[in-house]
Amino acid sequence: MSNTATVVGAFWGDEGKGKFVDYICRDVEADVAVRFAGGSNAGHTIKHPGEEAITMRLLPTGGSRPGTLSVIGAGVVIDPDILIREIDTMKGINPDFDLVVDYRAHIVLPSHRELDTRKEGARGAQIGTTRSGIGPTYADKANRVGIRIGDLTGDLDELYDKARLLATDIHHSTNIVSRDQIQQWSRKLSEFIGDGSRVVNGVIDDGGSVVFAGAQGALLDIDFGTYPFVTSTSCLPSGIGSGAGVDPRKVSEVVGVVKAYCTRIGAGDFPTEIHDEEVASIIREAGNEYEHGVHIDRPRRIGWLDPEALELSARVGNYDWLAITMLDVIGRLDEIEIPGVGTMPGWDCDIGDIDSPDELPVGLLRYLDEIERISGCRVGYISVGADTSQVIDVRGRYLW
Ligand code: GDP
Ligand code: IMO
Ligand code: MG
Repeated sequence: MSNTATVVGAFWGDEGKGKFVDYICRDVEADVAVRFAGGSNAGHTIKHPGEEAITMRLLPTGGSRPGTLSVIGAGVVIDPDILIREIDTMKGINPDFDLVVDYRAHIVLPSHRELDTRKEGARGAQIGTTRSGIGPTYADKANRVGIRIGDLTGDLDELYDKARLLATDIHHSTNIVSRDQIQQWSRKLSEFIGDGSRVVNGVIDDGGSVVFAGAQGALLDIDFGTYPFVTSTSCLPSGIGSGAGVDPRKVSEVVGVVKAYCTRIGAGDFPTEIHDEEVASIIREAGNEYEHGVHIDRPRRIGWLDPEALELSARVGNYDWLAITMLDVIGRLDEIEIPGVGTMPGWDCDIGDIDSPDELPVGLLRYLDEIERISGCRVGYISVGADTSQVIDVRGRYLW
């Protein structure tokens, strides 16, 4: 019997992965939630009924549930200040909050962020990154000059010298992390640093339940995404192997989160982009499609569901189930287009309180049927609003 579940993004990120990680962790009473790729370029917003929404960039959202241990895997890159802030936020929501950060995960330094911003400013080199220092940190890791979070538990003078030389000699930056800052990181984070891979494998082998929390999305994957307008990691379920140190044969129940339309932030190909600003803005405003970044606040580009992107994503992601989000948003349109397939009418009604598939509008079911046909995957979950509670589990049911 499988005791793991995996949630990954099927498009260009921001599909609603954070909500489903949180939902599934609660549904299966997960022992562990594991983030395995990317860094603070991610932003995962969850909203519990009657509470303010919160956004996590590094911690898996499932850690908001008492009894679920959070793990950050070796493949993640960590901005320590952001992690410290998020630990405080999680402790406010969940007094039982606990965390293991794999000592192998690399640290994002201020000079990595500067380099990211500098490169983005150079003519002809704009990807529209989140300027979180992701690319430069992974580049240093691959160059074998990076700094690992486990170094915070060792000799801090040595660590300071290494960070200084990295900034001055390799990044050509004067933005050097201070000794005080390194000491503060060490003081606040050392208790959480351990062997994440050992912890996660141990829980799986003992029959506990583990939820893997993906970041970004298949079309931002460094190998299979819209290169070079991608992020610097593998965003697919296969990324769990290197990112969490867990053999892919232990990974099952892969849920690909599909937004009912496409969005992307940053530059790059977007074949189904909606250029009719009137239509795009209906979706953007109803879906609150803005990047809520620490550095920048960008409107997300809006497009119709892209059949070619979905087909590629389903092929490389091999999803057991799809989770479809934002159906409440797209249903507001008079007419919904699927390029290359045709148009269909929207379902102009409030679906936010529906909790049974039998009550869903027929137009919505037809739309899901089309998504199943294009992807060759079954819809397992239907999201009808932003709250964690607004999910209909339809696994194993025929909808059409
Ligand atoms: P992630 O990066 O994939 O975790 O997604 P984000 O959190 O960046 O963006 C998804 C946004 O949509 C969040 O603000 C969610 O609270 C919200 N959301 C998720 N599912 C739904 C849905 O079905 N309907 C609506 N209206 N909002 C949703
Ligand atoms: P979540 O996990 C949406 C995009 C950036 C840019 C490209 C490279 O919230 O879905 P990077 O900073 O990674 O070097 O930027 O990737 N990008 C995301 N877009 N959601 C994300 O994460 C993203 N993480 C990176 O906008 O186009
Ligand atoms: Mg996001």
